[in-house]
Amino acid sequence: VSSTPATPRVERIPAGEGAIWVGEGLLRDASRYLVSPSGRFLLVSPASARSASDPIRKALGSAVLLDFEIEDGEAAKSLANVEKISEAALAAGLRRDDAFVAVGGGVATDVTGFAAAILLRGVAWNAVPTTTAGMADAAIGGKTAVNHPRGKNLLGAFHPPRAVLSDPVCLATLPDRDYRAGLVEAYKAAWVADPELSSRASESLSAVLERDGAALVALLAGAARVKIGIVETDPRDAGRRHLLNFGHTLGHALEGAVPWGTLRHGEAVAWGIAAALEISKRRAGLSEQDAAAIRRTLSRLGPFPQPERDPKKLAPLLALDKKATAAGTAGVLLEEIGRARVEPSVPIPEWLDAAAIMSLS
Ligand SMILES: NC(=O)c1ccc[n+]([C@@H]2O[C@H](COP(=O)([O-])OP(=O)(O)OC[C@H]3O[C@@H](n4cnc5c(N)ncnc54)[C@H](O)[C@@H]3O)[C@@H](O)[C@H]2O)c1
Ligand SMILES: [Zn+2]
Repeated sequence: VSSTPATPRVERIPAGEGAIWVGEGLLRDASRYLVSPSGRFLLVSPASARSASDPIRKALGSAVLLDFEIEDGEAAKSLANVEKISEAALAAGLRRDDAFVAVGGGVATDVTGFAAAILLRGVAWNAVPTTTAGMADAAIGGKTAVNHPRGKNLLGAFHPPRAVLSDPVCLATLPDRDYRAGLVEAYKAAWVADPELSSRASESLSAVLERDGAALVALLAGAARVKIGIVETDPRDAGRRHLLNFGHTLGHALEGAVPWGTLRHGEAVAWGIAAALEISKRRAGLSEQDAAAIRRTLSRLGPFPQPERDPKKLAPLLALDKKATAAGTAGVLLEEIGRARVEPSVPIPEWLDAAAIMSLS
């Protein structure tokens, strides 16, 4: 009988032709999970993700063909960085059957995934998200993109990673504000589609806030399962995938109403959810009890900075929404915790009223 310590639980979530793995300490065994047809890997990561890239570097050893450091932060999600990655990969001798490993937050996985989508007309890639936003959202579902001076995510491709490795151990170095803002997306996934996950995740909130590994594995695996389940019924983003935009209609407007970076994306979504709860009570029969339970969770994930509520600033931003028409703009409404639907047209004044009264306590 060997005396090796019990292996912590690793969750495997099938995702298209690949899989999402969520588990504590799994990066040490990265070579078991990462996929490359040739066996060779091109590692791309920013310095901020060292807590994840170091164990991977060690696990892959001589299978690493290229070890390339990129900048991160939203400004790094650019075509210029795709070119830098491409130049380094081609200079290293990239072949059709090699694979990238993108290690980092949503910026690193989006930019590297897009480079993988276009290099040699597409090579395989793996995602190792190192932020809560990345594990719950950005690394899942196969969308890759970079920004254009005219707007966010305007250049991109659908190119799902072959493997996603989410190891909560690497979240230890993530600043608290990014940590909490990203968790909003994980709870959002539960609220739109999974009542059991919602109740388990609200019970484990204290442990999640303490960055407890087992609680994070359960929440992040659950959120990934919800997202991949929705994406696989709507891979090209034509309908059901919109459910994942719960809180995002007003959230995007709130994010755009203040100087870039003032409000984290997840913080804006938290306020957007608070507003959507008000509209859901009126239009979708959401009970005040369910709305209050969600507000309680959001307030414990915060406190989040107060958003802009001036209707004169928010109205033009709401009208810019991709799904806006003269009659209003689409919104995701909650019927009860764990069940959401898309409302094709909510008049802009209703969003503005909800923004005026929304609260997180
Ligand atoms: N492709 C998709 O479907 C999808 C979905 C949602 C969001 N996104 C994109 O994801 C991006 C946001 O993701 P994000 O919040 O992860 O942003 P990010 O990549 O900018 O990371 C946030 C911050 O955390 C730092 N960081 C990352 N990992 C760390 C770690 N382990 N320890 C310490 N610091 C660390 C980064 O340097 C950065 O300052 C946006 O560009 C958004 O458009 C994409
Ligand atoms: Zn989001």
